[in-house]
Amino acid sequence: KKVVLAYSGGLDTSIIIPWLKETYDVEVIAFAADLGQNDFPNAKALEEKALKTGASKCYVLDLKKEFLEEYVWPTVRAGAKYEGTYLLGTSFARPLIAKYQVKIAEKEGAYAVAHGATGKGNDQVRFELTYAALNPKLEVIAPWKDPRWTFHSREDAIDYAAAHKIPLNGISKKKIYSEDGNLWHLSHEGGVLEFPEQEHKYEFLKHTNTYEKAPNKADHVTISFEKGNPVAINGKKMGAVELLEFLNEIGGKNACGLLDIVENRLVGLKSRGVYETPGGTLLYKAHECLQQLVLDKETLFEAQKMSMTYANLVYNGQWFTPLRQAMDAFFNEVNKVVTGEVTLKLYKGNIIPAGIKSPYSLYDMGLGGFTDVDMYDQKDATGFIRCYGLPLKTRALLLGKKTNV
Ligand code: ARG
Ligand code: SIN
Repeated sequence: KKVVLAYSGGLDTSIIIPWLKETYDVEVIAFAADLGQNDFPNAKALEEKALKTGASKCYVLDLKKEFLEEYVWPTVRAGAKYEGTYLLGTSFARPLIAKYQVKIAEKEGAYAVAHGATGKGNDQVRFELTYAALNPKLEVIAPWKDPRWTFHSREDAIDYAAAHKIPLNGISKKKIYSEDGNLWHLSHEGGVLEFPEQEHKYEFLKHTNTYEKAPNKADHVTISFEKGNPVAINGKKMGAVELLEFLNEIGGKNACGLLDIVENRLVGLKSRGVYETPGGTLLYKAHECLQQLVLDKETLFEAQKMSMTYANLVYNGQWFTPLRQAMDAFFNEVNKVVTGEVTLKLYKGNIIPAGIKSPYSLYDMGLGGFTDVDMYDQKDATGFIRCYGLPLKTRALLLGKKTNV
């Protein structure tokens, strides 16, 4: 009997390997996705570690390009920010990982898939909804929710690892918060971060400068979009990975894209998190600026409303749903005109628009300016406001009030 485990090489997913073998009497196939995690080991080293830990096989797949083009860019095109702020960096990574886990399980003839997410978080939902959508026949093993799982602390886990000769390189009893990273973002949760009343010194930041340490001189960067997808930086065409790496670098240097929030998890509790999304924050800002230039009022309004729904879908693990697909169709249509370039000025965490251009710009200097032009006759506005205000007048008269109340 085989189980495919979503494996990272970290402490939790490492102890799950011997635990699964002992508890379920199975062969464990590890699968690790390279999504551009900051500290992602090379594939060979990770495979060796998994095998030493007791896995019978280890798949390591580089999914960076697919992650950006098929998961991140659509979410940027939708302008989706969870609860208005969080750029969903962990959220959209899970369905992708789970999708490949299912593929490997099918190829290997495994009966189950396993993940190391806890029973208190969002990730469990994202993994398990994806398994359900893509292969409802697979059994799901979630050790943290299994009555036979007896680890209650990091110390317990480390002792178990030592007893099972799991290589512990880099893992210490001291690590005090939980991190999740990929090319898009790095999250910090738990441990000392659990006190929202505390200001943080941000000593744990890895990609982003603190505001204090950011340079005293601004940088400018120009991002080009085609149909809502970023395609070039400073006039140079770049692939998705290279492009985001460039933006991470320049955004991080200027302390852009730091977020410190309390958020509502899907399971009903609140958690406090600090997120570093330097390049992603620049992309969202640039996309927003461009969209504002090319969309008419009604389309922009609907797109903004829908982006809230889209953010919830991504956050709640509902990536593989008909609703998400239908919404992508809407956003693809809307983004047909989101082509052009946006220059941003970056300065100590500020992201300031410094030039927006598009062949589809609806901004008309004549119309928007103060001189009279043929297409707009100011006298027309009189009749327009009369009609627009008619319901108000009607109601005011009915209520016996003066219209100036
Ligand atoms: N709260 C964020 C989210 O739900 C980040 C979760 C971080 N996950 C982790 N395994 N450390 O998307
Ligand atoms: C976890 O609980 O496994 C990580 C946090 C989350 O999923 O929200």
